[in-house]
Amino acid sequence: MAQREQWGTRVGFILAAVGSAIGLGNIWRFPYMAYDNGGGAFLIPYFFALLTAGIPIMILEFGLGHKYKGSAPLTFAQINPKWEILGWWQVMVSFVIAVYYVIIIAWSFSYIGFSFNQAWGGDPTGFFIGNFLGLTDNPLNLGGLNSKVLIPLLIVWLINFVILFTGVKNGIEKANKVMMPLLFFIMIIIAIRGVTLPGAAEGLNYLFQPDFSKILNYKVWVAAYGQIFFTLSIAFAIMISYSSYLPPKSDIVNNGFMTALINCGFSLLAGLAVFGILGYMAQAQGVPFDKVVDKGIFLAFATFPQAISELPVLQGVFGALFFLSLFFAGLTSAISINEAVISGLIDKFNSSRKKITTIYCLVASTLSLIFATGAGLYILDIVDHFINNFGIVFGGLVEVILLSWFFKLDTVKKHINPISDFTVGNWWNFTLKVVTPIVLGYMAVQNLLGDIRVPYGGYTNSALLIMGWSLLAAVLVGAFILNSIKWKDGNVFVKTKE
Ligand code: ALA
Repeated sequence: MAQREQWGTRVGFILAAVGSAIGLGNIWRFPYMAYDNGGGAFLIPYFFALLTAGIPIMILEFGLGHKYKGSAPLTFAQINPKWEILGWWQVMVSFVIAVYYVIIIAWSFSYIGFSFNQAWGGDPTGFFIGNFLGLTDNPLNLGGLNSKVLIPLLIVWLINFVILFTGVKNGIEKANKVMMPLLFFIMIIIAIRGVTLPGAAEGLNYLFQPDFSKILNYKVWVAAYGQIFFTLSIAFAIMISYSSYLPPKSDIVNNGFMTALINCGFSLLAGLAVFGILGYMAQAQGVPFDKVVDKGIFLAFATFPQAISELPVLQGVFGALFFLSLFFAGLTSAISINEAVISGLIDKFNSSRKKITTIYCLVASTLSLIFATGAGLYILDIVDHFINNFGIVFGGLVEVILLSWFFKLDTVKKHINPISDFTVGNWWNFTLKVVTPIVLGYMAVQNLLGDIRVPYGGYTNSALLIMGWSLLAAVLVGAFILNSIKWKDGNVFVKTKE
């Protein structure tokens, strides 16, 4: 078996891990999740989930990848051959996310250009769903392929392909070393602009003032856990494969804390930028804050362009910078999501990166064409909801339960503590063994029952059945198929001795 690839430097790994974590989840998803779930009220379950699940799981996944030197399926298979399926479930979830994630990067790419002359004119929502997406009337009416989306989509796939094909050190690491510093720089500029605008305070109040009546709602909790898993790139195979490329001497605990905290700091920065600018818009229009903001995915592509048009100066520049930040953040994450799948396939088939990457990118880009149809936005909304709230959340829950109750967490602890500057103590076992399974388990089951009782997002049952529930079934079937294939000779894993 070929030597496993390795990161060139520690900074390179951190930038790649942070690049994976910081993504559309921070700029596109976090502000609207916070907004939809009661503004500041969302931040309480969000930080609870970060401290009791996000950081402990991040450290756990870094430790697992580093100790077992494998993608998620190979890692779980080494712990217990029966658990390989969990690795494939997570890989399949990543695969689905990869297929729709690129489309939002493609939109961002187009919107960089639209920003210069505010091509959306006086009606950004109409422009987005009409002129740009050519949205049909329901998720089952696909309409045709839309060339305005198709071309940027193919460009985004090509960039992904080149970087992944080039490998861990020369491709992924280098791309992150260029894009991440630029991303931070751009976001700081936008945030400074956002918070210094008149009226920004009103938007920021909305983001930070907790509405305690929402705290008891399980939906807010599941949304917070789903967001933490998504934003930290945990529980869907990514961080295990990224850390499998770490050299033997690597500070796991510190890397885990750093990645998680930098990521969440960035989300707050993006929140300041977005809510500050929206607060300004509300004031400029003389309407209450909650009247200017669209729900869900429209926030970035409809509400925000409107706000850009109303900026006092340099509208084109700030618009382009905002969408460029989405583009960079999205790209560095998309690379990691794709890599989670690619590394699993390389391990399983003991085949070359170049061959697997080529086949994989062809298949995934073809499937992502569905999101370039007139129904793309609806399908994306449904798929994102199901894959996050069920695919990731249940994958994470099972991972935590299996590893903390049916495996000795101390095996990982004994591996990571001696190589880390500061060590994890009993709090780490306690959060993984007790807090996360109870809180997340209860919320996830409530949420599942809720979705069964009330169809998500007002879509028809048939649309949800085809694009949501069947998708989860397909993920499971895919995982079983991959699980049933034998590991190729030469790649039969060596059981790591405790
Ligand atoms: N962690 C990535 C994001 O937040 C997937 O978008």
